[in-house]
Amino acid sequence: MKIFNATTADVASIYQLIKVYADKQIVLPRSLLSIYQHLQCMYVVKDKDKVVGVAGLHVLGEDLAEVRSLVIEPEYQHKGIGRMLLNHIITESSRLGVDRLISLTYQVDFFMKCGFDIVKKETLSEKVWIDCMNCPKFNQCDEVAMIKSLTEK
Ligand SMILES: CC(C)(COP(=O)(O)OP(=O)(O)OC[C@H]1O[C@@H](n2cnc3c(N)ncnc32)[C@H](O)[C@@H]1OP(=O)(O)O)[C@@H](O)C(=O)NCCC(=O)NCCS
Repeated sequence: MKIFNATTADVASIYQLIKVYADKQIVLPRSLLSIYQHLQCMYVVKDKDKVVGVAGLHVLGEDLAEVRSLVIEPEYQHKGIGRMLLNHIITESSRLGVDRLISLTYQVDFFMKCGFDIVKKETLSEKVWIDCMNCPKFNQCDEVAMIKSLTEK
């Protein structure tokens, strides 16, 4: 299985895969328009032609980026695909000159295994919260903020 830059042909599959977890309020919902608008920073893993994993990279400022919509098809989980996509996002973030990568997540153990630490939400830039306007859990967010320094060796 390989990572590809997402294309318009992948959008319907990306939408459906995110929806599986958005319906369970595990990740933020994404509209088709939002996926099209951010397609140039979205990556997919394919098994033959089937999209089995998705991740998005959003640069929030000079030294901060966020990984969003990291989702793996249920029957493809625990095969290393999530880590592979996250490592790709880390590489791309570094290439873009970003120092820190954050995630707002319920998957604390997964992100810890991938080198992230828990951080207090209050310490994060307000730019992180722009998409929270569209979240059904706005004002009662129970996600954990996690961060990885990309400059530490
Ligand atoms: C969280 C998620 C992206 C992980 O992807 P994955 O492909 O299943 O994870 P990997 O196989 O790459 O696992 C990497 C490591 O994390 C561990 N891990 C994965 N999911 C875990 C979990 N839920 N709890 C504890 N450890 C977990 C694996 O055991 C593995 O550890 P190892 O290196 O010691 O073997 C995937 O389970 C998923 O799509 N979950 C639902 C959507 C979601 O919550 N996304 C995160 C939004 S921020």
